[in-house]
Amino acid sequence: MASKLFATKPLSTIMKEAGETHEHSLKRALGPVNLTTLGIGAIIGAGIFVLTGTAAAQFAGPAIVLSFVIAGIGCIFAGLCYAEFASMIPIAGSAYTYGYATMGELVAWIIGWALVLEYAFGAATVAVGWSGFVTSLTNFFGIKLPFNPTPAVTFHLFGHAVAARVDIFAMAAIVVITTILVIGVRESANFTSAAVMIKVSVVLIFVGLATAFAFGHWSQMMANWHPFIPKNNGHFGHFGWSGIMRGAGVVFFSYIGFDAVSTAAQEAKNPQRDMPIGILGSLVICTVLYIIVSGLLTGLKPYSTLNVAAPVADGAAAIGASWGVILIDFGAIAGLASVMLVMLLGQSRVLYTMSHDGLVWKWAGKLHPRFCTPYITSIVVGAFAALLAAFLPIGLLGELVSLGTLLAFTIVCLGTWIMRVKRPDVPRPFRTPWVPLVPICGMIVSVALMVSLDAPAWIGFGSWLILGLIIYFTYSRKHSTVQRTLALEEVKK
Ligand code: ALA
Repeated sequence: MASKLFATKPLSTIMKEAGETHEHSLKRALGPVNLTTLGIGAIIGAGIFVLTGTAAAQFAGPAIVLSFVIAGIGCIFAGLCYAEFASMIPIAGSAYTYGYATMGELVAWIIGWALVLEYAFGAATVAVGWSGFVTSLTNFFGIKLPFNPTPAVTFHLFGHAVAARVDIFAMAAIVVITTILVIGVRESANFTSAAVMIKVSVVLIFVGLATAFAFGHWSQMMANWHPFIPKNNGHFGHFGWSGIMRGAGVVFFSYIGFDAVSTAAQEAKNPQRDMPIGILGSLVICTVLYIIVSGLLTGLKPYSTLNVAAPVADGAAAIGASWGVILIDFGAIAGLASVMLVMLLGQSRVLYTMSHDGLVWKWAGKLHPRFCTPYITSIVVGAFAALLAAFLPIGLLGELVSLGTLLAFTIVCLGTWIMRVKRPDVPRPFRTPWVPLVPICGMIVSVALMVSLDAPAWIGFGSWLILGLIIYFTYSRKHSTVQRTLALEEVKK
């Protein structure tokens, strides 16, 4: 019984499925540039545009730059492991499939379930941030909306009246993005490319303006950067080195998304070569941008004033570029839209793969006859994410996303090491350097960041995993293709 729970999916079967192309398979439409763009599309979003300021003001001060370096290095360890797996097993299931091949069905299920936290909850978190930027832009232009975008509603749950705030903009954003996803992967990639162009240009314009300002106001910048690591105020995680670590835990959110590139493996033209380029290329580009932006931002304004909804826009205002504020709002709106798109794309692809393995319902694997996209799963996930975005607070959502992602990272790092020991013979178009050192470092950083997150998020995470196990034992186990094959083999014996 226990051995069946940990039954692994044979690599030969996974490879065969990954290579299949027929009228009922996903379309291979993406090249290396599309994949890198997809990665940047998922990475640059609410994290850099919002969290940089809050984390600098509350936890790290100007040393938020070091928090970005630490979180970036942690992600690069995990990114290297993802790159090896994605080039070796290029399948849309990503971390879920890597877990299935190395640690067995139960672990695979847990990762698949944790990825719902990363992608569906991630899209919902970003939708709430997106709604905030749209509201700020309409306020800036003095546009009076004919309706209240965040009406309060009261509903009854187990006989209790519950009051909630409904975020209509956040819901609407998810509905529009879901529609694009249903129409096609090429359309989705085009949308992402346009959004990435806008947001990267906006970030570069900010860097240009701030650098020019720095040359003219060097002493002001130096004064804001001093002390670079403010003294700890007596509370763990508030400035000093513990604050830098706490800051790293918070800004980790800004890096989430590079792994979503691996879910597009079955839509890549040459996944063996291009997966590592997409994953690592997008991660390195964003790491460099984040370090520069956070360094400049804390020089433009005293860090204690950065705990605001749109700190980067405030930074632009401090330079005297009032048009820069509008520009940054636009950049954030485009940027956050692409993050939602890639997250929802990743979610539907993971469920598509799980459905083919029999672990989730069959409809999740059905492709649209014309668009060749997993349309039913995209619509169901979209509806779920829209509801989350409408009702849940952004803080709790964000921490749940980080926990789910970090769990997946930990297992992918461990899986890379296990696979090297168990199957050294499998061709690896990309090899993670210094195994097992890199996977071990990836696991240590991921677990350390998980531990730094708050108790309410852990309670939510635990409840989510328990719900997942109930579904696994009541549905998935009975319908699993791997379990059925094993049972058949036993009968034959
Ligand atoms: N990395 C993404 C963001 O910052 C999730 O919005």
